Amino acid sequence: MLTGIQASGDLHIGNYFGALKPFVDFLAENSDYESFLMVADYHALTSLKDGAALRQNTYNVVKDYLAAGVDPKQVVIFRQSDNQDHMELAWVLNCMVTVPFLMQGHAYKDKVAKGLDANAGLFTYPILMAADIVLYDTDVVPVGEDQRQHLEYTREAVTKFNNAFGPELLKEPKEHIMKAVGTVPGLDGQKMSKSYKNTIPLFGTPEEVEKAVMKIVTDSDGSFPQNVFAIHALIKPEAELRPVYEASAGRYGDLKKQLAADLNAYLAPMRERRAAVTDEEVQRVLADGVARAKTISNATMKRVRDAVGMTL
Ligand code: ADP
Ligand code: TRP
Repeated sequence: MLTGIQASGDLHIGNYFGALKPFVDFLAENSDYESFLMVADYHALTSLKDGAALRQNTYNVVKDYLAAGVDPKQVVIFRQSDNQDHMELAWVLNCMVTVPFLMQGHAYKDKVAKGLDANAGLFTYPILMAADIVLYDTDVVPVGEDQRQHLEYTREAVTKFNNAFGPELLKEPKEHIMKAVGTVPGLDGQKMSKSYKNTIPLFGTPEEVEKAVMKIVTDSDGSFPQNVFAIHALIKPEAELRPVYEASAGRYGDLKKQLAADLNAYLAPMRERRAAVTDEEVQRVLADGVARAKTISNATMKRVRDAVGMTL
């Protein structure tokens, strides 16, 4: 099992309940898989041109995952750019697919449609992702719905390679689209998203969490505070909450205070773990991870080099 994550700034509780927690739960339920979690920093370079930011994002994303409960003993956590096999296999697979095929890619088409400059890295992005996946003989790739097309690209590249060089040299992966909890609403009732500035921070201070919660919009006519309830229901059973909400009808302030207190209690252990992870620990986890990753990817590359005629 392998998944990759692009490091993209501070997480909010929508990211946690929509992506991080489903992943941690999936790991817990599938502990018999040999699992890989990769920081996709080569992929991040297609959009981020800021060395200090990429470096900081890499530390942050590893800390976030460790704090959320990913155990580096169970899961191989590594950074893509620490293993050059990714670059090499991406080149080989790029030679398997056509330009018109890559031009169908959503991410590429969207950028071109918006008139943004689509760099060549973005163009071949799905093939680098294919390399990430097949290097580890991956069976299952847990991703969000938006990544489904990339898995189809992976299977296409693998099929072309195997047809050219030998059956089953590379393994075709299956996607596993993670069950999202649905959309977590933001402070304004739209989808919670860092682009809308309507978030509750995952690793904020208790004061920051409370301040955000107090800003959740409610109707002034005393109707049911849907957004407050929806967020509350992420951390407490609805059956327990209903009577509390009915008894406090119209007293939004009290309900929000209660939500802030419950959220802070829920997030406290994660926040504590996050604060305790040092940069040195991240470096150790990544160094150990890439060593374990390479034992598998080097074997795949040996097969690939033999098959394509790059050994004498
Ligand atoms: P943002 O919208 O804040 O930029 P991303 O697009 O980086 O978030 O999303 C990262 C992950 O978090 C994705 O898997 C996405 O499905 C999940 N996610 C983001 N916002 C929400 C939300 N409001 N509710 C549920 N899941 C979310
Ligand atoms: N493209 C993925 C995303 O943006 C990140 C990614 C890179 C990935 N390589 C991967 C996901 C390999 C799964 C497997 O979310």
